[in-house]
Amino acid sequence: MNPSSLKNRHVLLAVTGGIAVYKAAELIRRLRSEEAEVTVVMTESSQRFITPLTFESLSGNKVYTDIFSVPMAHITLPESADLFVIAPATANIIGKLASGIADDMVALSFLAFRGPVIFAPAMNWRMYEHPVLQRNIKTLRDLGCQEVEPEEGELACGEYGVGRMAEAGRIIEAVKGCLTKKDLAGLKVLVVAGPTREYIDPVRFISNRSSGKMGYALAGVALRRGADVTLVSGPVSVEPPLGARVVRVETSDEMLEAVKKNLGGVDVLLMAAAVADFVPDDYSPVKREKEGGFTLKLRPSPDIVKAVSGIRKRPFIVGFSAETGPNIAKAKKKLGEKGMDFIVFNDVTLEGAGFDTDTNKISVIDEDGVADYPLMSKEGCAEIIFDHYLRHSR
Ligand code: PMT
Repeated sequence: MNPSSLKNRHVLLAVTGGIAVYKAAELIRRLRSEEAEVTVVMTESSQRFITPLTFESLSGNKVYTDIFSVPMAHITLPESADLFVIAPATANIIGKLASGIADDMVALSFLAFRGPVIFAPAMNWRMYEHPVLQRNIKTLRDLGCQEVEPEEGELACGEYGVGRMAEAGRIIEAVKGCLTKKDLAGLKVLVVAGPTREYIDPVRFISNRSSGKMGYALAGVALRRGADVTLVSGPVSVEPPLGARVVRVETSDEMLEAVKKNLGGVDVLLMAAAVADFVPDDYSPVKREKEGGFTLKLRPSPDIVKAVSGIRKRPFIVGFSAETGPNIAKAKKKLGEKGMDFIVFNDVTLEGAGFDTDTNKISVIDEDGVADYPLMSKEGCAEIIFDHYLRHSR
């Protein structure tokens, strides 16, 4: 099973009273779409903003609001949960939890729960900065609870500052991080992602369709599984995962330099980047005139994988092979020629696979043979790739 999968994981979600309560609805929807089981407990003040019915409909489960209506729910619910998430977490609940006050479903459930706790504060920036609140947050952190820090931006009160509850995606990432075995801990991973741009003149370049999604999924999964991650990235619009050291490059020459510079102590190099194979041979430092056209002469770009596989103390190398058809033979050839440890084949002409999709269909090829996988999320593919790596490195 995908180690970061939320399938059948039981999240006990505590909702407390602030305007950010509406974001809890999106959080539940996202958790459910990842097949997590969600049960919601609410404080009294949160019910002033949104009714339990909304969360009941979204979670498909009864919502618990009061300690007396279902006796012992504050014991039985935490017992069956894998994770306790408080989102939004008000200054009030943070204070209560930090000092052991247990007078509602949320605070009682917190005390009865044994397992990972995540809380996502949401409040006015001055409240968030207040030393008392910060002291209480520190108490919770020291107890092992994980804060998903609020974001900076316009706040519900009309002021600007740090206090907006983290977006659902960041909370889900923290959830997955908590539930994932850290089997890559202690490893230094270098992921190279995205396209390169090879300039014809200062305003024009040749490139390719890579969005960076495959490489960014590898970086995200490696972080979640405990690795130290550097991400060398060509120009893309996807957000890098939190915690990765990101080195931005444009051209294949810059990508090669960045890889060389960040290779020290690296255990695994994953080359998911679509390096443009050709570089214009006669770059013009001024914009070329369009009249009359011109013939573009191209030379091969530097081969980054070969440059790394040639060095004496080289890392484990995972390459990718993007082919237009079921051309496993070509991938096998690249595996040998470039000196990789294994190669991930993807046929970029298949529906839902290859460039700029959220899914991919991969085959992992090594000296022992070919392992084919069905179409799945790029995150799922990344999990499989690291599982292969772990099997190889043992
Ligand atoms: O970014 P996405 O939109 O998510 O798309 C993902 C992807 C299709 C780009 C990715 O899954 C993928 O297949 N990446 C490799 C694309 C590629 O360049 O394949 P290739 O068969 O041409 O190259 C083989 C290997 O050599 C690759 O690991 C490549 O990074 C590397 N290479 C290629 C050229 C070069 N000059 N130097 C290299 O190191």
